[in-house]
Amino acid sequence: MEWIPGDLPYRMSDRTEELQPDVVVGLLQGSYWAADRSKETILNSWRDSLCFGVYGEDGVQVAFMRVVTDGATFAWLCDVIVVPEHRGKGLGKWMMSVLIGHPRLRGTAIHLGTRDAHGLYEQYGFERRETMVRRAAAVGRAI
Ligand SMILES: CC(C)(COP(=O)(O)OP(=O)(O)OC[C@H]1O[C@@H](n2cnc3c(N)ncnc32)[C@H](O)[C@@H]1OP(=O)(O)O)[C@@H](O)C(=O)NCCC(=O)NCCS
Repeated sequence: MEWIPGDLPYRMSDRTEELQPDVVVGLLQGSYWAADRSKETILNSWRDSLCFGVYGEDGVQVAFMRVVTDGATFAWLCDVIVVPEHRGKGLGKWMMSVLIGHPRLRGTAIHLGTRDAHGLYEQYGFERRETMVRRAAAVGRAI
């Protein structure tokens, strides 16, 4: 699918094949949560995810987000990131409005983790909850 906002010179798409690997890998490896993710892992993470790219008028990708979902009950939103020069223009909010209206996600509870962007997500109905995680590095360790 594709979205064009009325008031912003951008285009959004959920077609994974349109994503620009160099842009996304550069953004994620510069983030606080995915700095140690290899390019191979980042590209593999797209395979079974619903991925969104935002593109400027020149066609260059300026934002990314990814959702892992069963399409019926559960979705995990992650890797939400906008190129620094394009922040503060409403892209993050537009991405959230597209996300919550997406046909594959309409019946799902959408979860996410964030260090400091709670104020963005709360505007779109997200509530603060405590969750647990088992990290990949723990696999194989005695419990
Ligand atoms: C967070 C991020 C995706 C927001 O995208 P953006 O295009 O800059 O956001 P917008 O211009 O649509 O505005 C964001 C809104 O959320 C609010 N907000 C709350 N916490 C925020 C935060 N930590 N960063 C940015 N905006 C935040 C802003 O005040 C704004 O609301 P307002 O217009 O009512 O004042 C972007 O700043 C980014 O890529 N940051 C670095 C990566 C990151 O932290 N990602 C989120 C991890 S879960």
